[in-house]
Amino acid sequence: MSNRKRSYVEYHEDGSITEAQISTADALFENARAVVVPVRAAAAGDAAVDEPAADVAPAPATAEQVAAPAQADVLSIDTATGKAAAPELSSERVKDIFSTISKKYERFNAVSSFGAYKIWLADVVAKTPATAESEILDIAGGTGDVTFAIARAKHPRHIQCTDLVNEMLDVARAHYAKGASDGVPVDFEVVDAQEIPYADATYDIVTVAYGIRNMPKREQAISEMYRVLKPGGTLVCLDFSTPGNPVWNGMYNFYLKHMIPFWGGAITGDKSGFVYLSKSIKAFPDQRKLARMFEDAGFVDVTWKNHTGGIAAVHVAHKPR
Ligand SMILES: C[S@@+](CC[C@H](N)C(=O)[O-])C[C@H]1O[C@@H](n2cnc3c(N)ncnc32)[C@H](O)[C@@H]1O
Repeated sequence: MSNRKRSYVEYHEDGSITEAQISTADALFENARAVVVPVRAAAAGDAAVDEPAADVAPAPATAEQVAAPAQADVLSIDTATGKAAAPELSSERVKDIFSTISKKYERFNAVSSFGAYKIWLADVVAKTPATAESEILDIAGGTGDVTFAIARAKHPRHIQCTDLVNEMLDVARAHYAKGASDGVPVDFEVVDAQEIPYADATYDIVTVAYGIRNMPKREQAISEMYRVLKPGGTLVCLDFSTPGNPVWNGMYNFYLKHMIPFWGGAITGDKSGFVYLSKSIKAFPDQRKLARMFEDAGFVDVTWKNHTGGIAAVHVAHKPR
């Protein structure tokens, strides 16, 4: 791992923000936290339910969500805060993090998830309506978890596995070479989801797991996913979300605000970085807001299923015929 320094912003518990220089090793911990948070909370367990976008009461908004500008009004945000910012801020950060951790990403998932990620992934597979004729585009495919899980379970005609970071795709290519797709043809290409280089109406299904949260131009990315879907096509999206039960949400927010910085500080000595993680998760739109973003892009029949009490959610959206 390189140890080069780069400018960074630190978020403190008292609300202050300072500029800092951190190494890419610190950046790696930023990503690791994104995996650790839902996983530890997953131990509490829950019953997931399918919910239509229209008749679900919104979860209580956090202070950060109230402070963040409405998604529809913002062309580009800092994905750490939800506030308006140049897209390069988040794009460069995400490239830096994922190119650094590509070979360790799956180990972090496996060690820290206690199986929760696999359960959420299984629901993505279950909700992907693939047939033997399906052409599938996996956006932010990373090391190929979603691509290979769908390939093995559904045997579609072809999957296009794409990601912004070639180092992540290199890991996926290595899995493919060892037969991870069970014979299903998979192609890999570096693609920024905010500017997808494929023709309109190319794909039957688009999948995206933990991708949209990392994209500064989210509306543009969702519109691009809509554009490349065929009429009648389906988008399946997995990402972290917001618990709807006030008690569970309160416990979760307490855990995010106090326990994550405590454990992060105790284990790494980088308490402020763990405060940053808590804020970045809270800044992501809740289930209902994300569903609204899909509807705003033209999708219909948008539903979601909560997992682990809403810490994660799988959204399904359809392009009209
Ligand atoms: C947490 S990983 C998820 C990888 C994979 N989907 C999975 O479930 O393991 C997030 C991925 O999003 C990718 N990403 C972030 N911004 C992106 C963008 N604008 N376009 C495409 N991929 C992006 C990152 O490179 C990274 O591989």
